[in-house]
Amino acid sequence: MIKYAVTGAAGRMGTLVIQEASKAKDLQLVAGFDAVGEGKVIGDGILVSNAAKLRETLAATKPDVLIDFTIASAAVENVCTAADMGINLVVGTTGFSPDQLARMRNAINGKVAAVITPNFSAGVNVFWKLVAEAAAALKDYDIEVIEAHHNQKKDAPSGTALATVDAIKSALGEIDVVHGREGIRLRGKEIGVHAVRAGDIVGDHTVLFAGPGERLEIKHQAHSRTAFAGGAVRAASWIVGREPGIYNMADVLGSR
Ligand SMILES: NC(=O)c1ccc[n+]([C@@H]2O[C@H](COP(=O)([O-])OP(=O)(O)OC[C@H]3O[C@@H](n4cnc5c(N)ncnc54)[C@H](O)[C@@H]3O)[C@@H](O)[C@H]2O)c1
Repeated sequence: MIKYAVTGAAGRMGTLVIQEASKAKDLQLVAGFDAVGEGKVIGDGILVSNAAKLRETLAATKPDVLIDFTIASAAVENVCTAADMGINLVVGTTGFSPDQLARMRNAINGKVAAVITPNFSAGVNVFWKLVAEAAAALKDYDIEVIEAHHNQKKDAPSGTALATVDAIKSALGEIDVVHGREGIRLRGKEIGVHAVRAGDIVGDHTVLFAGPGERLEIKHQAHSRTAFAGGAVRAASWIVGREPGIYNMADVLGSR
């Protein structure tokens, strides 16, 4: 049995991860942490623990893996604490600065195994491959990345959109990125990135390639957060027993 804990356990994703993991035979919830909702029941006899007591509660409950869906500033601290305690990690939180990513990498490398990805869905992992392939084939086309999320999402553009830009760069090399457009300026050799925040949209990502007389759109739409939660649960089972290091969803899905 794999023992797991969740940070952000009372949030949208944390709640769903616990729900999805309860269907898996090999996973047992031992602790859940949140900045709000202390004492709320989240699983079989498990209550939300105070996030400020992370280290002592992890020491008492000894999970094999910690799943984090919080906010970037909290996730960095959670990752450093868990890695220091030898606890493997599954990190779904997005919106990290380069410094925060570097801190997490330093804390993890050589100590524990971690899956870090801005998107756990199988479809988005195929989407990234298709986007890279199209970018390589349509080198002179204008490329725009358009993402849409619910009105409670804090970071923009989404982590998935940023990873999409990286997928395009893997095919084209370094290229300017322009976030939104305003004022008077002709389009240059650049990738345009646009973030829509509205209603309860779970997560849409479109890459538009436009050239003479035609355009190609590659689109992924998440209908439900289950697509992410199911992937995070799969990653939690997969990561335990791996060599220390940082893995992504392509590793988990066996497509790399
Ligand atoms: N990787 C993916 O597939 C994927 C999918 C969806 C969302 N996300 C990302 O996951 C993150 C969470 O999204 P959400 O929609 O669940 O947000 P949410 O706001 O519903 O939940 C976040 C929770 O974290 C809690 N929290 C804040 N600080 C904490 C701390 N120090 N310790 C413990 N808990 C703390 C908050 O109280 C909240 O309950 C966001 O960064 C989002 O972009 C990733």
